[in-house]
Amino acid sequence: MTSPAPRPIEIVPSVLPADFANLGDACVALEKAGVDRIQWDVMDGNFVPNLTFGADVIAATRPLVTVPFEAHLMVTEPTWILDTMVEAGCELLIVHAEACTHLHRTLGRINELGVKASVAINPATPVEAVANVLDLVSMVLVMTVNPGFGGQAYISTMEPKIAQLRKLIVDGGHDVDLEVDGGVGPATIAGAASAGANVFIAGSSLFRDPEGLAHATTQLRALATEASGA
Ligand code: DX5
Repeated sequence: MTSPAPRPIEIVPSVLPADFANLGDACVALEKAGVDRIQWDVMDGNFVPNLTFGADVIAATRPLVTVPFEAHLMVTEPTWILDTMVEAGCELLIVHAEACTHLHRTLGRINELGVKASVAINPATPVEAVANVLDLVSMVLVMTVNPGFGGQAYISTMEPKIAQLRKLIVDGGHDVDLEVDGGVGPATIAGAASAGANVFIAGSSLFRDPEGLAHATTQLRALATEASGA
């Protein structure tokens, strides 16, 4: 069986570390920096011990840029929020396997809404939790931190799990991206890429780069490309 072509490397910033008083400016700056998408970390204060923003905030920034939006829904039983996230302009919705009693049905609902569906798994959750829904998603997100906050340390013990998931995807013949989120930066992205990830969420490492967003984006993309053999 010929090995599949490497999947395109995508750098997707989280706006979590951005200045919440100027999120529109942050989106414009990220688009200019050449990012592939922008991720909105939607937190409900229940699934994770933090509360961020909802559809109205996302919708307010949508007209400012053309770069695609994705929503990382750290929301317990998120079916109530799906329609508003689509109306706000998100074209990819990520729900947590741990937050959905009926994950298969929820992912099917996202597809019915005409946008891409993705499922996220927390560090303690095995890849088996998503084995039966790979036909419903365009991407799986492997959390490399425990969700709720930016600026946390990358959990390198997730790399065997990333490799296990990539094998599951390839063996099943699924056209599915593998995203990682949490502590991704110049010192950690190569490990995740060589393990099999091709989409990288970066918050702190982008916004803290003294040489700016464009430099950080270019550097991360180059490091991931080199490590993945893409
Ligand atoms: C955690 C969040 C963070 C954020 C990126 O719930 O999902 O992972 O997006 O954070 P850092 O600053 O680690 O890149």
